[in-house]
Amino acid sequence: MTPLLAVEGLIKHFDSRRGVVIQRSVGTVRAVDDVSFHLSAGETLGIVGESGCGKSTTGRLVLRLIEATAGTIRFEGRDVRTLSRGALRALRRDMQIIFQDPYASLNPRLSVGDMLAEPLRLHGLASGADLRTRAEELLTTVGLSAWHALRYPHEFSGGQRQRLAVARALATRPKLIVCDEPVSALDVSIQAQVINLLKDLQSRLGLAYIFIAHDLAVVRHISDRVAVMYLGKIVETASTEQLFTAPRHPYTRALLAAAPIADPTGPARRLPLEGDIPSPLNPPPGCRFHTRCPHAQAQCRSEAPPLREIAPGHRAACHFAEAIAAVEAAAETVPPPPYMRRLTDYRRAVAALAGR
Ligand SMILES: Nc1ncnc2c1ncn2[C@@H]1O[C@H](COP(=O)(O)OP(=O)(O)OP(=O)(O)O)[C@@H](O)[C@H]1O
Ligand SMILES: [Mg+2]
Repeated sequence: MTPLLAVEGLIKHFDSRRGVVIQRSVGTVRAVDDVSFHLSAGETLGIVGESGCGKSTTGRLVLRLIEATAGTIRFEGRDVRTLSRGALRALRRDMQIIFQDPYASLNPRLSVGDMLAEPLRLHGLASGADLRTRAEELLTTVGLSAWHALRYPHEFSGGQRQRLAVARALATRPKLIVCDEPVSALDVSIQAQVINLLKDLQSRLGLAYIFIAHDLAVVRHISDRVAVMYLGKIVETASTEQLFTAPRHPYTRALLAAAPIADPTGPARRLPLEGDIPSPLNPPPGCRFHTRCPHAQAQCRSEAPPLREIAPGHRAACHFAEAIAAVEAAAETVPPPPYMRRLTDYRRAVAALAGR
């Protein structure tokens, strides 16, 4: 069966320039560097990772809002990167995007009714009196009222505005919506309403989502599968259940350890990692995570680990994924000897178990 969306080897490099009048290139930002994933109809793929790891860029590439440097993007088998303008416009009916800031993404000069009618008219989906009926239907679909069509975006609350953004995205009856931090700017209580709306629409309309977020609790709630990104690469991907109960990549483990999953309103803790995220202008050689990884070995500094299957449907890009899990499993049944509490000894034990 053809997946709804299949992304292979996606790369986006930005030329980074400095200077106001005379600009000079200071290097290449490897925003997305060899990313592959797929998505079935009606499915939600969550994408998580620290700021700047390439989540939004990935979402924009999929919709071809920006052009990729390399790789393939197939939507229902069609190669998105080589579509003509006309074919791309038709495809935009099937793929929509919702952004973090619903105010910035809504045209303040258009009444809500006109804003919703615009894509319908553009794609020839309705005309005349139908436009108004369809716009009102869209408003009720997202839990607003038909009379809201006469209002302007600034007359709505943050949560209501995000509902408007959802209504606009739904206007063309898309099959896929890229949700880029759709609730990050909202109050926690409103977040739940918008998330539940998205879930409800998904089951009613069979939508697929790429759901980009910082908040792991939200991602866990809405996603079927999750991809974790670090410095432009996917480092781990698994079903939501697998990822949250048995994370295998040291970076995912650090993210989960820092996230206030049980109490999403609590303050996020600092990642239990040393050092800052390296610059995507000059990513570390070998495994990009090795500079912050508590388990890093010599091999990690020279050899980039491939994203490989370590259990059915569970892939991780770590040379020592199994070894780390084995050491931890052993440590659970047998109390670790005192020397194991020291990081260097722990590293040695991990390396020995991996036979390297
Ligand atoms: N137009 C651009 N020109 C140059 N660099 C860019 C451009 N857009 C993004 N980048 C860089 O690409 C990298 C990835 O950016 P992206 O916006 O995809 O990150 P993100 O994961 O969405 O982060 P956040 O969580 O902060 O939204 C960053 O280093 C960013 O500075
Ligand atoms: Mg972003």
